[in-house]
Amino acid sequence: MRSFRAAARNEPEETALKIYHAAASPFVRKCLVAAHEVGLHARIELVPAAAHPVNRDKAIVAHNPLGKIPTLVTDDGQDLFDSRVICEYLNAQGRGNLIPREGRARWSVLVDQSLADGIMDAAVLVRYETFARPEALRWNDWITGQLEKVTSGLDALEARASGFGARVDLGTIAFGCALGYLDFRFSALNWRDKRPNAAEWFDGFGARSSMIATRPPAT
Ligand code: BEZ
Repeated sequence: MRSFRAAARNEPEETALKIYHAAASPFVRKCLVAAHEVGLHARIELVPAAAHPVNRDKAIVAHNPLGKIPTLVTDDGQDLFDSRVICEYLNAQGRGNLIPREGRARWSVLVDQSLADGIMDAAVLVRYETFARPEALRWNDWITGQLEKVTSGLDALEARASGFGARVDLGTIAFGCALGYLDFRFSALNWRDKRPNAAEWFDGFGARSSMIATRPPAT
């Protein structure tokens, strides 16, 4: 049945895009920020999910054999994952403004996304190691190795940030979500120390309505 709003405005019904979601996940946030920035956020339906590396959520597994979030179910029933595929889909369905179509600009944006995703991956692995893994089984050298990836990723971001200007694309969105996750879970890292360019850039980018609307809840 058409919604009252669509019928009253004589608009086509906007169907839902379901995202299996946990508000703390930086990869989910990347997709939600992307949805805002391409004008699709009103169509997103958040489905709460309990993604965990050991206790897999069967509701997610039904749509993604890897049991990971974000997983998106399109309005015509197609299951999409991971965050890169979902963001590409949202970009194609929406304004198409997040990934340059060709040339160096395209590869720069995509490699920025890879760098930011790598920072998020390493940080999430440290979070799992310290939060989900029993203390007796933790391996400190492994944690140190992941944190080194975060540090060198941040140093590369610092070198790029002064050139970001007003860019809003998949690369800068992913960096924004990576820095937001570090503020959320790893504030003791003080990533802003010695990274003034990234800090100044994030002051502005983090104030975008897409970033404010998707902030993880306070713990
Ligand atoms: C977190 O709580 O930090 C988290 C939750 C889901 C996915 C990734 C991270």
